[in-house]
Amino acid sequence: MRHFQWEDYYHLFVERYRGRSDVVAVQQKDGSFVQLAGGLTLDRFLGHMEMTDTYGIYQMDDQACVRFILFDMDVFPRRKRSGPELLAELSKKKGQVLMLRDTLMDLDIHEDQILVEFPTVGYHVVLFFDWPVPAQEAKTFARLALARAGLKYVAPFYPITTVGYGDMVRLPLRVNNLTDKRSVFISNLGTFDPAHYDPTPDFTPLERVRPISPAQFHGALERVAAINGFVKVAEVGELKPGEMKLVEAGDKRILLVNVRGEYHAVEEVCPHAEGPLSEGMLEGEEVECPWHGRRFNVRTGEALKRYPVRVERENILVGAP
Ligand code: FES
Repeated sequence: MRHFQWEDYYHLFVERYRGRSDVVAVQQKDGSFVQLAGGLTLDRFLGHMEMTDTYGIYQMDDQACVRFILFDMDVFPRRKRSGPELLAELSKKKGQVLMLRDTLMDLDIHEDQILVEFPTVGYHVVLFFDWPVPAQEAKTFARLALARAGLKYVAPFYPITTVGYGDMVRLPLRVNNLTDKRSVFISNLGTFDPAHYDPTPDFTPLERVRPISPAQFHGALERVAAINGFVKVAEVGELKPGEMKLVEAGDKRILLVNVRGEYHAVEEVCPHAEGPLSEGMLEGEEVECPWHGRRFNVRTGEALKRYPVRVERENILVGAP
């Protein structure tokens, strides 16, 4: 009977937790995972639900895109804790989850688009997409959203690896090998009590969660990038390898340089006597000041202030808070 009910959720489960379809990972007795050919088949899903095996999926597809972001807000470090100590840590984590949720909602992601799972030692916050998002973009968004929430060094997130198979993410509703308890989806975070929760699998929160649309995601990414001080300064086609140009971000004059296809941003005003570096000569990764000939390496930024650069679709953004 239980089998039959779980079977009903198979399609919803693999639709939401979609990664590579040609490989899956299964946990061994010693806790390590090994790859198995083939994706998350119905038999494997049932094995996961029956707790005979624990599976993980490779989040990134073979086009380097992902269908979800997972913020891993487990208690850290991941050592076995119990009793009041664990409950105190969990209460702190819940506060962080609420901060992240509020930040996401400020970025116009709705509450019913945020899934929270309780993996028995903390929380996982998951956002789903209804189209394949480049892993690099998803990673940027996750990093900036955490920074905005004041949780920059608090929570790891996935995707973090954007090459090969990407990250392996353990599937929800599994048994946590630190606590030997089953993880669950949370229906109501406000009233959720880690000390007394029902470990019976309930798919309702997964059923209810609404994926994020492309327009919504790009809007949220632009907003969170702007909030974190990144502004668009140019488009990719404007600057060929070996070229540089003066751009402005706020009140800052910035020299944007394309060195062999890699963009670098440094202050444009020469630190010697304020000469305009954008009017100098670029040779490889060195720019020569037009006034007194001093040379500066734009890649290492020696003696020049460097600014972080990001490329998002066709846009070059510079972080100049
Ligand atoms: S102002 Fe640049 S070298 Fe003097």
